[in-house]
Amino acid sequence: MIPSDPVIAIVGATGAVGEELLSILAARRFPHRSLRLFASKRSAGSIVDFDGRKLLVEELNEDSFNGVHLALFSAGKSVSKHYGPIAVQSGCMVVDNSSCFRMDPSVPLVVPEVNGELLDRIDRPSIIANPNCSTIIALMAVSSLHRAVGIERMVVSTYQAASGAGAAAMRELETQAREFVAGFAYTTAIFGRQYLFNVFSHNSAVGEDGYNEEERKLLLETRKIWSDEGVRVTATCVRVPTLRAHCESINLTFRGSLSEADARTLLARAPGVRIVDDRAANRFPEPIEASGGDDVLVGRIRADLSQAPGKGLDLFVAGDQLRKGAALNAIQIAERLVPAAVRA
Ligand code: A2P
Repeated sequence: MIPSDPVIAIVGATGAVGEELLSILAARRFPHRSLRLFASKRSAGSIVDFDGRKLLVEELNEDSFNGVHLALFSAGKSVSKHYGPIAVQSGCMVVDNSSCFRMDPSVPLVVPEVNGELLDRIDRPSIIANPNCSTIIALMAVSSLHRAVGIERMVVSTYQAASGAGAAAMRELETQAREFVAGFAYTTAIFGRQYLFNVFSHNSAVGEDGYNEEERKLLLETRKIWSDEGVRVTATCVRVPTLRAHCESINLTFRGSLSEADARTLLARAPGVRIVDDRAANRFPEPIEASGGDDVLVGRIRADLSQAPGKGLDLFVAGDQLRKGAALNAIQIAERLVPAAVRA
């Protein structure tokens, strides 16, 4: 339905995820006839490098999707809410990185390695949602175990990087580092507090039950992606002063039984997962090593001694928030929709 050489649009092309979308499209030689870049009025007219070419950034408007076959949205929820349906109306397939449509029952929520088969049923222009970054990274690490024996309960503690809050948050962390060295007062425009040398609860709204939105997404999105309303998930999400890779401590309780050795075998075979687990050298997943890579790193793999043998497992994972947590996942979805983009 999408031609093998589509016209592609990136909405939010000047943002942290937008930049990553551009670099991954170029690196993976994603087939396309032309590429159109959209952002707000602020950056309209600016020029962006793409694979040795100079591309003009245009201001997004309601006519932007005329003639576009595939649009990758990463410009926030309100932009997706307004322009996503307009794009579909224009005959465009939308892969949306915002939270706007994720829980809409008519919208597939997809991690290609986990439930990519949903994409094979799409036969008309529509919206496909990219899950939340913390959810993608967690499910990349544990879905092979869930498939094997069933996960009954998952306890997740996140260590989330600045990139999840956008390019401006990354810049602010770097600015605070320079301000520390210079002895200046910190700029705190994004989070309203010192971020450098600090850890604080995730900056999403906290509900009456005490869970913030990021924590709630981990529960609701996991259930939707696994088509399993029975799985229990509880999470504590915090920001740590790293730039672009999230870490997560994950504690699992299995429905069936799984030894540590069998878990290692499953993880070693899981696509998009790389085991980093050298106990002797104390070498485990770190955000620095995950940054810029495609794989979700999994380590600290050990039976949970507080649970019955075979019933529980602990993991520590790290994944690049901008790549697998956002841009790479979106492009993998797009690759499955454009037959000519299928990778060897
Ligand atoms: P701009 O650079 O013009 O502000 P990030 O997540 O890194 O903050 O990036 C957000 C992206 O979304 C940027 O490319 C930003 O463009 C874009 N954006 C924000 N608001 C709008 C809007 N109203 N219309 C189109 N693009 C927008």
